[in-house]
Amino acid sequence: MKHIETIASHGAESRSYEGAVSFPIFQTSTYAGSENFSYTRCGNPTRNELEQTIALLEKGTYGFAFASGLAAISTVFSLLKQGDHVLISDDLYGGTYRLIEEIWSRFGIEFTFADLRDLRNACVKQNTKLIFAETPTNPMMKVLPIRALADLAHENGALLAVDNTFLTPYLQQPLTLGADLSVQSGTKFLSGHHDTVCGLLTTSSVEIAQRVSLIQRTLGNALSPFDSWLTLRGLQTLPARMEVHQKNARAAADFLQSHPRVERVYYPGLPSHEGHELMKQQSSGMGGVLSFALKDEDVMPVLNGGKLFRFAESLGGTTSLITYPQTQTHASVPRDVREKIGITPRLLRLSVGLENTDDLIEDLEQMLQQKTI
Ligand SMILES: Cc1ncc(COP(=O)(O)O)c(C=O)c1O
Repeated sequence: MKHIETIASHGAESRSYEGAVSFPIFQTSTYAGSENFSYTRCGNPTRNELEQTIALLEKGTYGFAFASGLAAISTVFSLLKQGDHVLISDDLYGGTYRLIEEIWSRFGIEFTFADLRDLRNACVKQNTKLIFAETPTNPMMKVLPIRALADLAHENGALLAVDNTFLTPYLQQPLTLGADLSVQSGTKFLSGHHDTVCGLLTTSSVEIAQRVSLIQRTLGNALSPFDSWLTLRGLQTLPARMEVHQKNARAAADFLQSHPRVERVYYPGLPSHEGHELMKQQSSGMGGVLSFALKDEDVMPVLNGGKLFRFAESLGGTTSLITYPQTQTHASVPRDVREKIGITPRLLRLSVGLENTDDLIEDLEQMLQQKTI
């Protein structure tokens, strides 16, 4: 059995094309006389290589690559039908919230948002067909119990899908903890260089895989050959990058925690974080994302003041980013819902990159000195 670093750097290598060491980009829409491929919406060798690689990394059997993380998540919801109920974490990426409110709720699928850290909040109904859990959650970094949620789903004849974007299979493998589907925005750590938008979905169930394959071919939401190649290229360095991301994130969390202008730091790698012990059980690392709340509301000079931390919406790339959830990633979430979860005007989110640790701390230090005059 190959280790994860070896799979990431070599890929699935399902077939060898003329000895090419970098898997080729099959930039073709159609195929004449191929035994395996007919039309790229339905299948493409480069995408196929990525799909097999992500399946191996997630310790699943079947992998699928989509045009974005949201396309992958939307495919999960496409497994449902009118009248089905979904139990979903209350703190989650704002785009997923918009997908639910603006699209899927209108097709007669019912959603209940709940704080799934505590299963007593998990109001499973007779028609519950899916539990959907982001863990750690975006942006409050709540840690949800994957195994317990899988048991709860299965006792009630439902599926568990986990959004694994923040940790990637290098640090967390939801399928090995009982989840039926692992889904992620490959735009983030998986591709890892702020240059690709993509989504991945993995499962070990043949029934789910057949249905997902049909949805992918029919909705036409699969990843392009070139973006599949970029993601494969990014994946080769995923393990090495994740180690540096989390080392730098821990240093940033320690620094912020001791800073007089910071009220609270949300990073599961801190022993004081309420999800720290659970993370240690279900993940092999703490990831490279953290959020923090300032004591004051003078956030714009801090957001704009970074020399290394660029003020931009995304995470998981080589360069560090600072994000304002209220107006960026979570702008689609209504204000009262946001504030209930903890997404206040004082909350900022960091994606800690691969720069030198001391340089990053120096940048944070000067950013926190920035104030409106
Ligand atoms: C946790 C999480 N899931 C899904 C998505 C959506 O991914 P994409 O932007 O690739 O559609 C994001 C995007 O930020 C995210 O943070």
